Amino acid sequence: MTVRNLVLVGFMGTGKSTIGKKLAERLHWRFIDADAAIEANQGSSITEIFRLQGEAYFRKVESQVLAGVLTGACQVVATGGGAVLAQENRDCMLANSFVVGLKASAEAIIDRVSQDTNRPLLQGNLEERVHTLLESRKTAYDFAHVTIDTTALTVEQIVEEIVGRMS
Ligand code: S3P
Repeated sequence: MTVRNLVLVGFMGTGKSTIGKKLAERLHWRFIDADAAIEANQGSSITEIFRLQGEAYFRKVESQVLAGVLTGACQVVATGGGAVLAQENRDCMLANSFVVGLKASAEAIIDRVSQDTNRPLLQGNLEERVHTLLESRKTAYDFAHVTIDTTALTVEQIVEEIVGRMS
């Protein structure tokens, strides 16, 4: 496989966007946030897409946008936490990218996502929603080439760890 892109996968709040931006700077690659690309494609926010068209529609657009993005090269792509659920997306990522899974403790995730209350899948009791979704996605990120626990590491440490694992 020729590695053309680096793709970050992981549950919400594991640090995909924060780390992806720093990683792109470090590699001198372009940073793409897949959720932002979906919003640009639809001219609408993730929240509004979920509210007006529903999750199934969002997942369809997510697959299309991701496939389009991954035709490019030298990009660090932060995916949405549910992008790994579709086999076609996993295949597409593995076809030409180095896939890095990020994970964190439930406590760290809850703490981080509580800063942004807009996520459609985390409405209601936050702790309960995180635990339920984490349980249902227990093995969803295991297909990644490497997995890094971000709970107790700094962004700089994580970036260097990923760069080291790439070579
Ligand atoms: C989702 C995660 C979100 C976003 C959407 C659905 C998920 O992205 O794609 O709300 O299913 O886990 P982040 O992981 O960037 O929050």
